[in-house]
Amino acid sequence: GVTTLQLKVNGTVRSLQAEPRVSLLDALREYLDLTGTKKGCDHGQCGACTVLVDGRRINSCLSLAVMNQGKEITTIEGLMKGEELHPMQEAFLKHDGFQCGYCTPGQIMSGVACVKEGHATTDDQCREWMSGNLCRCGAYPNIVAAVREVAG
Ligand code: FES
Repeated sequence: GVTTLQLKVNGTVRSLQAEPRVSLLDALREYLDLTGTKKGCDHGQCGACTVLVDGRRINSCLSLAVMNQGKEITTIEGLMKGEELHPMQEAFLKHDGFQCGYCTPGQIMSGVACVKEGHATTDDQCREWMSGNLCRCGAYPNIVAAVREVAG
């Protein structure tokens, strides 16, 4: 049956009524109207659904919403500070890190985690870390350039 879930997303606790089998991805998109996080494969293969949970990136399609109660969930909607883009968003713009844009929110969330966890010190290391985020348009070199710039 339907149960009440509480999720802390981008600093705000939100309640929703959903079945316990609902994925975090569907909870975000279908119940909380946070459609910035994308659904590609829904099977952990593409990375379009990447979000941060307590600062670590996960594929939100593979995680049940109910398991994420009490944690800090960050989505692409939570990266801006007021009117200011996050440095990773700025870098993606500067380096043309996207074409159709569908994979971009997931790429950016993975990029943020990549830098924060110290996996962007070389192009190879960055590529390895980002390899779970597929881009059908093939913007990979530009994505790596963007992430590497933020890593400094
Ligand atoms: Fe989650 Fe593809 S939608 S990895």
